[in-house]
Amino acid sequence: MPTLVLPSVAVVPSVAKDTDVLVVGLAKASGNDVAVGVPDDVAAWFVKSVGRELAEVAGDLGASSKTATTALLPGPKGLRLIVVGLGDIDVTPEQVRRATGAALRAAAGLVGDRPLVVAISLDTIEPQVIKGAVEGALLGAYTFRPAGKGKPGIAGVMIVTTNKRPEAKQAVELGVGTATAVCQARTWVNTSPHLLYPESFADDIRSAARSKSLAVEVWDDKALERDGFGGLLAVGGGSSRKPRLVKVSYAPRGAKFHLALVGKGITFDSGGLNIKTAEGMYTMKSDMAGAASVVGAISAIAEAGIRIRVTAYAALAENLPSGTAYRPSDVLTIYGGTTVENGNSDAEGRLVLADALVKASEEGPDLIIDVATLTGACVIALGDRVAGLMARDDQTADLILDAAEAAGELFWQLPLPEEARGKLDSRVADLKSTGDRAGGALTAAAFLSEFVPPALSWAHLDIAGPAFNSHEPYDYTPAGGTGMSVRTLVALAHALAN
Ligand code: BES
Ligand code: MN
Ligand code: ZN
Repeated sequence: MPTLVLPSVAVVPSVAKDTDVLVVGLAKASGNDVAVGVPDDVAAWFVKSVGRELAEVAGDLGASSKTATTALLPGPKGLRLIVVGLGDIDVTPEQVRRATGAALRAAAGLVGDRPLVVAISLDTIEPQVIKGAVEGALLGAYTFRPAGKGKPGIAGVMIVTTNKRPEAKQAVELGVGTATAVCQARTWVNTSPHLLYPESFADDIRSAARSKSLAVEVWDDKALERDGFGGLLAVGGGSSRKPRLVKVSYAPRGAKFHLALVGKGITFDSGGLNIKTAEGMYTMKSDMAGAASVVGAISAIAEAGIRIRVTAYAALAENLPSGTAYRPSDVLTIYGGTTVENGNSDAEGRLVLADALVKASEEGPDLIIDVATLTGACVIALGDRVAGLMARDDQTADLILDAAEAAGELFWQLPLPEEARGKLDSRVADLKSTGDRAGGALTAAAFLSEFVPPALSWAHLDIAGPAFNSHEPYDYTPAGGTGMSVRTLVALAHALAN
C-alpha cells in the first residue's frame, strides 16, 4: 500500500536561516494591495538591491491580493519568495487555507533533488487562522506517492507568528491532525483499485486505527453470511475479492454524545451487470471515498482527544460483473430482515449502506451520518465542488452546515420529500432499490432513510461530486482524491463534544 509522508510543522517567532522558500502575502486594504508578513530584512533587501518595494515588484510579476494567486520572486541570499494573494485584509481561516494551499503547491513544484523547508509568514495570530494556514499548507503540499515512487518533497513547514501562547501550538496540532486525516483519505482513494480491495482496505484500516488505540472489528465474508448482511454479500458477490464490514470505535471517558458514521466503501464500481460506460467507470476507484472519510475522521477525532463517542462503519465491497454477480430483479435481505428488489446493479451503494445503517442503529446513537459517493444525480444538481446534505431535521442540517462553514467545505441542503419514498414500492419485496431518473439523489436518500429507525437523528452526505477532482489542481485541492467531508466531520465532533 502506498505510504503517506507529510512535512513536519513547527511554530517559530521569526524566519529561520535554513529556510529555502518564504511565503508572504498580498492583501487588499482600503482599495490597495499591501504586503503582509514581509520580514524587515527582506523588505530592506528589496529596496536596496531592486530599488523598489516588494509589493510593487510582485504586482508587476502578476501577483495580486486575489485569494490564492501566486508569484515567485527572488530574495536575499538565494532565498526564494512566494507572494500569495490573501483577499481582504480581514482574513478568514478559509482564505488563509486556500492561500497557503496554493503557495505550498507552488513550493512543491520547486523541489529539485533535495527536500525543501518552507516558512509561512502571513501575520497570522488568531488560533483559527493559524490552524487554517497549517491545514492549507499540508493539503497543498500533498502528493500521492505510489509504493516505490518516492521523490523528495517539502520536508518542513514553519509557521511564523508572534503568538507565543500555548493556543498557537495547539492550533498547529489540531491543523496537523485534521490535515493528516484528509491526506490519509486521499491516499486511500488514489491507490490503484487492484491493490485496494475490501480485504486489503480492511487490513489497512485496522493498522491505522490500532496505531491510534481504537477498537476495530472486521466481518469477513463468512461472518457477513452468518449475520445476514445481504446487501454487502449481493454487491460483493461478483468479485473474487470478498466484501468486508469494518467497525472502528472511539469511546473516551466522560463522553456524553454518541456519533455514528457510516461510509460507502465500493473499492471499484464497474456498475456490475448494469455495466457503466468507459467514461463513467474511469474514476470509480474513488467510490470508497465515504469509507475513507469516516475512518479518517474518527482517527483525527481520537488523535485530538475530543470528548465524544464515535463509532465508524466502513461498508466494503467491489462491484463487478461475473457469473456470480447479483442481478437486476434479485431480491436480497438486508441485515435485520428488510427485503429489497434490486432495480439496477449500479445502484449498489445504497445496499451496502443499508446493511451498515441497520447495524449502526442497533446501539442507538444520538446521531447517525452516512457519507457516500452515492449518485450521479447529485453531481448534476450541485456540480463537482459542492456536496449534497440531507437530514431528517433542520437542526441537524444546520449543525452540519455550520461545521462545514468552519471547516471550509461546501455543502448544500437538499430536501427529503415524502413523495420520494413512493417511487420505491415493489411487487415482490418490501421495497425496490431504485426509482426513476427524476431527483435521483433524493430517491437514494429516501431509500437509506428506510434503514434508520424514525426516532433516530440521521443525515446523509452525498459527496459524489467533490470526492474526486478530475480536473486541474486548485488552491489546496489536488487532482484525484480530495478527502472532502473529513474536515466537516471533525469540526462537527468539536461542536458536539461536551
Ligand atoms: N458510484 C456511483 C455514483 C457516482 C457517479 C459517484 C459519478 C461519483 C461520480 C453510484 O454507485 C451509481 O452508479 N449510481 C447510479 C444510480 C442509478 C443506477 C439509480 C447513478 O447515479 O447513475
Ligand atoms: Mn454504482
Ligand atoms: Zn457506486
